[in-house]
Amino acid sequence: MVQTPDTKNKTNVNRGKEPAKETILTPRFYTTDFDEMAKMDLSINEEELEAICEEFRKDYNRHHFVRNKEFEGAADKLDPQTREVFIEFLEQSCTSEFSGFLLYKELSRRIKDRNPLLAECFAHMARDEARHAGFLNKSMSDFNLQLDLGFLTASKDYTFFKPKFIFYATYLSEKIGYWRYIAIYRHFEKNPNNKIFPIFNFFENWCQDEIGMETFLTP
Ligand SMILES: [Fe+2]
Repeated sequence: MVQTPDTKNKTNVNRGKEPAKETILTPRFYTTDFDEMAKMDLSINEEELEAICEEFRKDYNRHHFVRNKEFEGAADKLDPQTREVFIEFLEQSCTSEFSGFLLYKELSRRIKDRNPLLAECFAHMARDEARHAGFLNKSMSDFNLQLDLGFLTASKDYTFFKPKFIFYATYLSEKIGYWRYIAIYRHFEKNPNNKIFPIFNFFENWCQDEIGMETFLTP
């Protein structure tokens, strides 16, 4: 997950047959100096990087994000106030995950010829973030909503960071993402009656993806 400073803003939401209700947000997405990233000499850490990449290749959560029957009708059980807050939570989370996907995917694509191992790590991270964003977006469809990811991709503003700061920023983002998901998961372990939607059952394994990325990005 890449947290954005604007996560409290709303994002563009395609409300299907209700375009008048669309809201336009200004989520923050990131870009960097891809040439400088491609030229990074990681030979000192190559062994470590290869080990991390091998963990990514195993893709422990590849069978995790499968919706089950618990989702059926779950959206209809929320009272209007809870529903509104929860939808905002889904929007924010999906936008943050999607932001991570875009950055990692672009990094992977732009450096793959010159820095293949680093590129492969970013590709695996993009895979995980896409899975997270997709799972959240699927939950939004339970509320007859869908984030218009194509619109976001085409219209968003990009914040530029030099590669060094991209590593710092994404490291902190993944760390925050990990603690956010695990704190929510543990809260519901102690308070199962407050668990308003089945997506929270998925957060424990979800955290492992975030911590994998955090490990890779550790300065
Ligand atoms: Fe994520």
